[in-house]
Amino acid sequence: MAKSVVVLPGDGIGPEVAAVAIEVLGVLPVDVTVEEHLFGGAAIDATGSPLPDETLAAARGAHAVLLGAVGGPKWDGGGVRPEDGLLGLRRALDVYANIRPAAQGDVDLVVVRELVGGLYFGARGVRDDGTVFDTCEYHPDEIRRIVRRGFELARTRRRSLTSVDKANVLDTSRLWRRIVEELAPGYPDVELRHALVDSAAMDLVTSPERFDVIVTENMFGDILSDVAAAVTGGLGLAASASLGDARPGIFEPVHGSAPDIAGTGAANPAAMLRSLALMLTHAFDRADLAEAVERSVEAALVSTPTPDLGGSATTAEFARTVIARLEDAWTTAPS
Ligand code: NAD
Ligand code: IPM
Ligand code: MN
Repeated sequence: MAKSVVVLPGDGIGPEVAAVAIEVLGVLPVDVTVEEHLFGGAAIDATGSPLPDETLAAARGAHAVLLGAVGGPKWDGGGVRPEDGLLGLRRALDVYANIRPAAQGDVDLVVVRELVGGLYFGARGVRDDGTVFDTCEYHPDEIRRIVRRGFELARTRRRSLTSVDKANVLDTSRLWRRIVEELAPGYPDVELRHALVDSAAMDLVTSPERFDVIVTENMFGDILSDVAAAVTGGLGLAASASLGDARPGIFEPVHGSAPDIAGTGAANPAAMLRSLALMLTHAFDRADLAEAVERSVEAALVSTPTPDLGGSATTAEFARTVIARLEDAWTTAPS
């Protein structure tokens, strides 16, 4: 039976890179149906909501969700935001584990970011005196399930886990650290290190090769994953998988809608294509196809670099290089 993929192109360069992913998916020997749905700012313009009911229903029913990016200055003026749609979708699908790999040269790390709790989802509001507040809350079970993911992933890699928190200041971080300590005896084969987020950020810049798996809460993970991307080739390359305990997962680049380059043909689709590769691995159990996509992207990054990498190739030229390589692979591979 065909697997269903719901594509949410979104805004800015989102639709530009999502189109490349659909095209690449089309040349892979895999039985899929692809449906596009309104999401983000585009959905606000069409329906008033960044996550229309129909989009959410389609996402819930899919095997996987492939997401471009949302947001842009057009919707920054107050009221409902495209980003609310993204947060609502992550929460509705309970994709609590956001896996963000970053690798280049001798750096090979993965940020495991808690995605549906913390400061992003705590109580917020405004008091009579004008004070505005956001609150960071974590239930022990929310921490347990993401920390377990971190340990489990470390086990499949170099068996080193860095848990990042701000336990010298925050109660939620002290709870986080206590739970990491509580789970650690179950993973005696994994070397555990605690790091405070400020020094972890510095270490990521100065010696990223020291990290294997980093597990951290939502906000710290958002920031550290952009840092990890920056030291391994930039946001144009950084992919992610947002996973829960059940299907569907969301597969999305780390980058945003890049309003500064949207519409110019300069978007690097590598992050989106690597997210597609993560989808092939995690949702389709086709690590072989994921590897083929990864290899074709690697080759295109060398032969056909986009402007963010110092080259001059367009999104379409990059896409053509990737597709030509993949088609080559299928026609020359022994069956
Ligand atoms: P951004 O990630 O969109 O862009 C940051 C910088 O990286 C820009 O200079 C951009 O041109 C560059 N860049 C990003 N992706 C690129 C790519 N694929 N190829 C080449 N260059 C790329 O971050 P921002 O500018 O801070 O945010 C813009 C909007 O995107 C905001 O509305 C923000 O909320 C939203 N956003 C959405 C997501 C998402 O949908 N998952 C993620 C981050 C930001
Ligand atoms: C990301 C983005 C989102 C986040 C925003 C757009 C809500 O920055 O996916 O990293 O902070 O999670
Ligand atoms: Mn981010």
